[in-house]
Amino acid sequence: MEEKKIRIGVLASGGGSNLQAILDAVQGGALAFAEVVLVIANKEDAFALKRAQAAGVDSLFLDPRKFPSRADYFEKIIQECDARRVNLVCLAGFLLKIEPNMVKRFKNRMLNIHPALLPKFGGKGMYGHFVHEAVLKAGEKESGCSVHLVDDQFDHGAVILQRKVPVLPGDDPQTLAARVLEQEHALFPEAIRAFVHSPIYPDQLKNNG
Ligand code: GRF
Repeated sequence: MEEKKIRIGVLASGGGSNLQAILDAVQGGALAFAEVVLVIANKEDAFALKRAQAAGVDSLFLDPRKFPSRADYFEKIIQECDARRVNLVCLAGFLLKIEPNMVKRFKNRMLNIHPALLPKFGGKGMYGHFVHEAVLKAGEKESGCSVHLVDDQFDHGAVILQRKVPVLPGDDPQTLAARVLEQEHALFPEAIRAFVHSPIYPDQLKNNG
């Protein structure tokens, strides 16, 4: 009998190294109970799309400028996810704010990765190098990354798992970002595993994984 797998949809805006970490974990068996069935990017040149193609995963570039409103844009994303029976959405470096229709549709079924130790250094404008600049400016001794549930505020939902890294003397935003990113790649698959086995994840979607 075929085992029912968790069907992951990934939204990305850029390089997609976190997407790759998820694909590798599926492939390598750490996430054997899951499969990535769709990757959507809001940027045509997002390398994440190439990674999806290389892995044989359906990929779509959806241009937000082609939609009358952001709600319409996310409605289209919902439709594409529904068409592939996605039951877990992972935001892997996706830079658009998620509209309420999408938040509602994937309540308790959407995870984001953020390159800091939330609740510190999250919120509007806290993305990419801005995060690491702020961490350095605040004189923090450690930073890290967080995977959290997505709600209607930026970087706000319940934290599932975190990993820490030291902030080292002489760090600049690039060196710190690289140290954090390495941990992100381990964290996202770990957090997916922890999350789908947690009581938050809807029971009917669980399987033998
Ligand atoms: C990561 O640092 C992620 O936390 C942030 O954007 C970066 C995306 O990297 N939100 P990638 O596209 O997964 O390589």
